[in-house]
Amino acid sequence: MRFGLRGTRAVIVGFVLVGSMVAAQPVLAQKVEISVDATKAGAKINRNIFGQFAEHLGHGIYDGIWVGPDSKIPNTRGIRNDVVSALKAIKVPNVRWPGGCFADEYHWRKGIGPQRVVTLNPNWGGVMEPNTFGTNEFMDFLDQIGAEAYVSVNVGSGTPQEAAEWLEYLTTAQSTTLAKERAADGHPAPYKVDFLGIGNESWDCGGNMTPDYYVSQLKIYSHFVRNFNPAQQEKQQMLKIAVGPGGDDPRFVDWTQTVMKAYQQHTWSWDIEGLSMHSYTVGKWPPSYASMGFGETEYAGILKYTLEMEGLIDKYAAIMNQYDPQKKVALVVDEWGAWYAPLPGTNPGFLVQQNSLRDAILAALNLNLFARHADRVRMANIAQMINVLQSMIMTDKEKMVLTPTYYIYKMYVPFQDATSLQVTFDPGTYTHGDVTLPRVDVIAAKDTAGKLWLAITNVNPNQAAEIEVSFGDTAAKSALGDTLTAPKVDSVNTFDAPNTVVPKPVTASVQGGKLTLNLEPKSVTVVSIE
Ligand code: AHR
Repeated sequence: MRFGLRGTRAVIVGFVLVGSMVAAQPVLAQKVEISVDATKAGAKINRNIFGQFAEHLGHGIYDGIWVGPDSKIPNTRGIRNDVVSALKAIKVPNVRWPGGCFADEYHWRKGIGPQRVVTLNPNWGGVMEPNTFGTNEFMDFLDQIGAEAYVSVNVGSGTPQEAAEWLEYLTTAQSTTLAKERAADGHPAPYKVDFLGIGNESWDCGGNMTPDYYVSQLKIYSHFVRNFNPAQQEKQQMLKIAVGPGGDDPRFVDWTQTVMKAYQQHTWSWDIEGLSMHSYTVGKWPPSYASMGFGETEYAGILKYTLEMEGLIDKYAAIMNQYDPQKKVALVVDEWGAWYAPLPGTNPGFLVQQNSLRDAILAALNLNLFARHADRVRMANIAQMINVLQSMIMTDKEKMVLTPTYYIYKMYVPFQDATSLQVTFDPGTYTHGDVTLPRVDVIAAKDTAGKLWLAITNVNPNQAAEIEVSFGDTAAKSALGDTLTAPKVDSVNTFDAPNTVVPKPVTASVQGGKLTLNLEPKSVTVVSIE
């Protein structure tokens, strides 16, 4: 079911200042009427769409998560305490690891036991990979932040046997030799692995396979890479995720059709529950948009590119519908986010970029798209969690700063596992140069406790937007929440000035059961309704 983007017409009113949300200067606010029908419940917004991706890349793992038990940086068994506590606050549902392209060159045995094998990371800067953060450290990290494991196995340069043994090591309760080895490594109980990625971008860095060759591999890995955890044999089974499309290139239509057709004809011996899709907001390749020090043209341009996500979801969901009309297979957008030019002075292989208010708005727009397509998009992983691409967190030795994108994830926590509600509105338009975008975007949902939530983005960086929300037969009594904005579209948080882009509380006025709020330009607001 598609919600929103149709219905009422926008009208112009002027100089409306409501609540504490509005900038000091009077600006012309165009009224947007939004109607939420709490009786029209849609799909559940699976909490897994708020998943993260942590690859062995640059300072994503080393320095970002792992500092080692002997570090002066406060840590628990080598894992940074500051990072753990920040991630707990956004209730990370799952983390995809160890890659990315890295996954198809990763050999898990090098990252267990007292003697780690030092290897190289040819994909990402050719640096040394100490393997000090391996399987048990990853599972410990997940345990500390309260997230589930999404493990990507090596299909490119590994073997089905290597992957099968990894899962046996991770999940076996019986005293097999591998289970005993896990116990000797400090974890007698079997781990839970909730998600299994079978390869990564196998059409490119994962082995440049043809679709048919990949499908043959998929069947083998799906059958032999078993999860033995007794708790995951019935209801909590591990979900297997196949490699899917990586953008709009026509070859990905063929790829998706081949995988989905095979799925339709699958036998008892193999299965998949998810199809991966990767889509970055790049603009042009190689990534050359600046992540800081840009203006309105780059703001509008990047947001235009990011909204192409909807066309991709529609396109690949339509192919999936052909072969899987019951929507048993989830579309898993397990790499997405902004990918800009590397920051000057950094190793280009480390994919270091700043994170601005533009990225916060970009994140909100994409999360809204995933929520609107919640029937098919049931998992997503932003790239990447720490210090790489559109990260939640940046670290520098003992220092840590939370990015604008982090705050969107924090504000959206109530939408985890909430039920989508039908929203009708006319978004209006915002135009800059030759770019025209929807001015306003909205999602509404009921959380697991029955409370109603709205997330509203005002894309226009120059004009506030007055919003009037009606709730059918239900009269709103009060509304409160947070709004995220900043002085400029390229405002960032730095180690020295960490609070430039942080949410501030907002209350909205309610009259005659309708909620009125005035959204600051270039802002994202999340409110709960009583
Ligand atoms: O996230 C960086 C890289 O982008 C990943 O390793 C790869 O899967 C994708 O191409």
